[in-house]
Amino acid sequence: MIKIAPSILSADFCNLEREIRRVDSADWLHVDVMDGMFVPNISIGVPVVSSIRRHTEMFLDVHLMVEKPGRYVDAFADAGADLLSVHLEADMPLRIREALRRMEERGVKRGIVLRPITSAEAVLPYLELGVELVLVMTVEPGFGGQKFMADQLPKLEAIRRYIDRYQPDCNLEVDGGIDPDTARQAVSAGANVLVAGSSVYGAPDPAVAIAALRG
Ligand code: DX5
Ligand code: ZN
Repeated sequence: MIKIAPSILSADFCNLEREIRRVDSADWLHVDVMDGMFVPNISIGVPVVSSIRRHTEMFLDVHLMVEKPGRYVDAFADAGADLLSVHLEADMPLRIREALRRMEERGVKRGIVLRPITSAEAVLPYLELGVELVLVMTVEPGFGGQKFMADQLPKLEAIRRYIDRYQPDCNLEVDGGIDPDTARQAVSAGANVLVAGSSVYGAPDPAVAIAALRG
């Protein structure tokens, strides 16, 4: 079963509750946290996640685009995140492991994220730890509305093979430039969770856009 995770980065932040209701036919809610250091943009943080948590039962998939993300695991766990994903490039491997361990202690699902430059093999030690999600970026992280990088498809296929072999329960999520056409390509390459920002919130009816992504 394919899961759709609309990214609220493309929503109207002045009307967040209404914007979340508009996508309630989706499966997860994707929340992009950016610190202006790991990526050039600044978005939203812990207080916004707490507010969202009070207004929805949806699964909160929080994508941390911040340096040294381990510093924020407890804060986002307290805020009510269901899953936290950390970039492998955002700290030393030892610290990334510590962050994942802390998530497990806090009962938060663990995700790792790869920038386009990072190779498929980088996931192997983390599949061994039993992470619940691998997120493959199909744009350079930082902004919504960019073009899908088709050169990431072989990487998705390779990671799907690793997952099937070593950690079959692990989700494979794709983020960046997803519309009905690129969604089809990502799913054939092995993705089972699709993040979509502009193609959902830019549509006249987000529910129709979500249905179109399901294929
Ligand atoms: C980009 C974010 C994405 C972004 C996707 O750094 O991680 O989640 O919102 O937006 P679209 O779907 O417009 O590419
Ligand atoms: Zn994201």
